[in-house]
Amino acid sequence: MRTDTPLTIYRKDYTAPSYLVDTVELGFDLDPARTIVANRLTMRRNPASAQREIELYGEDIELVALRLNGKALGKREYRLDGNLLRIPNAPEEVTLEIETLCAPEKNTALSGLYVSNGNFITQCEAEGFRRITFFPDRPDVMAKYTVMLRADKERYPVLLSNGNLVDEGMLPDGRHYAKWEDPFLKPSYLFALVAAKLVCQEEKFKLADGREALLQVWVEEGNLDKTDYAMQSLKKSIRWDEERFGLELDLDRFMIVATGDFNMGAMENKGLNIFNTKYVLANPRVATDIDFQGIEAVVGHEYFHNWTGNRVTCRDWFQLSLKEGLTVFRDQEFSGDMIGTSTGRAVNRIDQVRTLRAAQFPEDAGPMAHPVRPDSFVEINNFYTVTVYEKGAEVVRMYQTLLGREGFRKGMDLYFERHDGQAVECDDFRRAMADANDRNLDQFERWYSQAGTPVVRAQMRYDEQQHAVELTLSQSCPATPGQPEKLPFHIPVAVGLVGRDGRDIPLVIDDQERGTTTVLELTGAEQTFRFTSVPQQPVPSILRDFSAPVVLEYDYSDEDLLHLFSHDSDPVNRWEAGQRLAMERLLRLTEDVTAGSRLQLDDTFIEAMRKVLTDESLGPAFREQALLLPTESMIAEQTDVVHPLSIHMARQFVRSSIGNRLRAELLAAYDANQTPGQYSPDAESIGKRALKNLALGYLAAASDDEGIALAERQFDEADNMTDRAAALGALVHARAPAAQRALQGFYDEFEKEALVVDKWFAMQASSPSTDVAAVRELMKHPAFTMKNPNRARSLVFNFCMANPVQFHVPDGSGYAFWAEQVMALDALNPQVAARLARAMDRWRRYAPALQAHMKQALKQVNGLKKLSNDVREVVSKALA
Ligand code: TRP
Ligand code: ZN
Repeated sequence: MRTDTPLTIYRKDYTAPSYLVDTVELGFDLDPARTIVANRLTMRRNPASAQREIELYGEDIELVALRLNGKALGKREYRLDGNLLRIPNAPEEVTLEIETLCAPEKNTALSGLYVSNGNFITQCEAEGFRRITFFPDRPDVMAKYTVMLRADKERYPVLLSNGNLVDEGMLPDGRHYAKWEDPFLKPSYLFALVAAKLVCQEEKFKLADGREALLQVWVEEGNLDKTDYAMQSLKKSIRWDEERFGLELDLDRFMIVATGDFNMGAMENKGLNIFNTKYVLANPRVATDIDFQGIEAVVGHEYFHNWTGNRVTCRDWFQLSLKEGLTVFRDQEFSGDMIGTSTGRAVNRIDQVRTLRAAQFPEDAGPMAHPVRPDSFVEINNFYTVTVYEKGAEVVRMYQTLLGREGFRKGMDLYFERHDGQAVECDDFRRAMADANDRNLDQFERWYSQAGTPVVRAQMRYDEQQHAVELTLSQSCPATPGQPEKLPFHIPVAVGLVGRDGRDIPLVIDDQERGTTTVLELTGAEQTFRFTSVPQQPVPSILRDFSAPVVLEYDYSDEDLLHLFSHDSDPVNRWEAGQRLAMERLLRLTEDVTAGSRLQLDDTFIEAMRKVLTDESLGPAFREQALLLPTESMIAEQTDVVHPLSIHMARQFVRSSIGNRLRAELLAAYDANQTPGQYSPDAESIGKRALKNLALGYLAAASDDEGIALAERQFDEADNMTDRAAALGALVHARAPAAQRALQGFYDEFEKEALVVDKWFAMQASSPSTDVAAVRELMKHPAFTMKNPNRARSLVFNFCMANPVQFHVPDGSGYAFWAEQVMALDALNPQVAARLARAMDRWRRYAPALQAHMKQALKQVNGLKKLSNDVREVVSKALA
């Protein structure tokens, strides 16, 4: 906790470390109140550095002893200013011995070594290792680790760390020990230990080269009935990385540990991944389809980090997207390949586009906007963002779009050939892609250096005499903090031309046949592409498969959109046409609500929806996506002055109109998409349940008696959490009379399942019938605690971020609540508090009366003297 103005760190100021570390020997005497950490480092001066001082970081730990080459250092032989310990005049080669004390049970920040439900857990990324011992805690210092763990055997029967177990045994006083050795060099952020009472599901798994690896999933007792899916996902991940990228598991042992107290989703520590229980524990009774999909994706993500992140790591934290963007791309491809079918893949892609638009575009347009590779930060934890992760993944995807799958693979191979065992930069990845394919990707660098969402404007001219189409593409990018002017990006724009009969017209450019979809490379501010042999005026299908993270502007008529919505061979653009039709109506209706006009929804739109809903040739998963309306946050991004209540009412009106006017078709879809028999989270069943439950939601939104009755029946009879939760959600959101009884029954049945209790809080927090007072009441519930991030997110975050109507009540009481909770949480867990702080990012776009209240709340938080760097950075940037 700092009280002074926080320091900004700049990418341009990077300097090499003064000393390199060869070996680290750590000894832990684990005790919740008083853990002793003994650290022996062998170091040598870095020839690449002019700096001659040893620099070690340490935070919230007590220095007990410090010896250099066997000799205790006196008070004048080192300096300890704040978090930096400096030893001047050190010899070329040193052995440092450092003894420190920490108090894991008091560590509520969940960074460093902490206690979760009686178990010791660590989290070191990004800068948590310095909360365990003094160390040059930066990712370009890579060393070999040996770890000795000592703890009470009764309370902590399981002792784990990175790499291989090399020794274990008993000690006096009922204590025991385990010694672990990690054969690979690693940066400190990948260190981990676990000392706990846990049980595991384990399996031997044969690797591509014939070796056998031991796979383990560790959980608390009582959860062994929920580890199957994580284990299956791990095996699929290992296989997939072998097959798609030729990358093998490099350890004999790979462990996953689940903990209920975790700031993020999961962490890729070498050989010892630590997970939020949310991304491990699942069975049909407690987990939804989305939970199962999340587990597969996150297990894959962390496993894939073993090569993209661990074997090749980041030089500094500005390069975070080097590992995160690439690893998200890899987990997205993995999920797509696991579905297999082309519509399945498209549905997966549509989900990615929705996340990007709902979360990343707003970030890129707000006060925290930053490039995929940021130029500066105050607190690195604030830069684990949708921009670094999801936009970063889009940037990696664009290489594949430009170079093809094979070209991309060649680039990956060269990247590992050049950089295995190194800490490198985003530029090194780009260079490997360029060199492996003999391509110039210099301009592509701007995707890393320029923030903001580019706008691509398209215009088409059809020449009837020449039978030619001229497609003119131009680009621009709005200003972002610190970047008033932008230069043109290298944008792959995948294009097709859809004929009057709904079929793709074969593309010919410069007398060359280019198939039915071609990737145009837009590199200038404006370029015109000429297609010949086009027999009739087509409708252009632009940015197929969402080939670049941009906003596409084209003046489509309703007719064009209806045509694409019925015929586009590219499923993502087919969906997109429907979203455009819906968005136009939602924006108009939002204005009508604000103006107090009568609301009306045209038949054309309803008929288009009817057509997809009843088109049996489309898979249920796609139909569900096509019927899903843009989120309230996406609508807000499209309006100049945001009136959250108007947006909500407009969207509700469309929802209930669909429910009323497509009642028969929705009921039919509800019946036709039942999934009788044993629950299975395969893509086809997931699609059916999604469509069925969407139909249920629309019917309930129409306050149709039969819809409500269906929801009640489904709630009572469901044998899986997907259908259970969907029915409960429909009842709660429709404010059905049965909602209260159902909520109580749900809680009584699942009160021992923490992840389900989270769902119970979340459902209420995001319901428009839950006001600030009701949230405050829920906070008094015995199951509520701010100390557990999942629980805080389920109630407080969901209210502030997923319940716009109540959060933005005109009297400002939602914002006052926000300020109070940010401040309370900051005292416990700054990382998580800073995430909540971001609920105010877009405050300048709200109606003036709301803006005034929001500004006041922001100022209240920023006025606090004692505030973490994390929250300070977010609120001060919002106010700047
Ligand atoms: N590297 C992790 C991932 O993306 C992210 C992560 C887990 C993290 N825990 C963290 C980042 C704590 C910062 C702080 O898989
Ligand atoms: Zn990651």
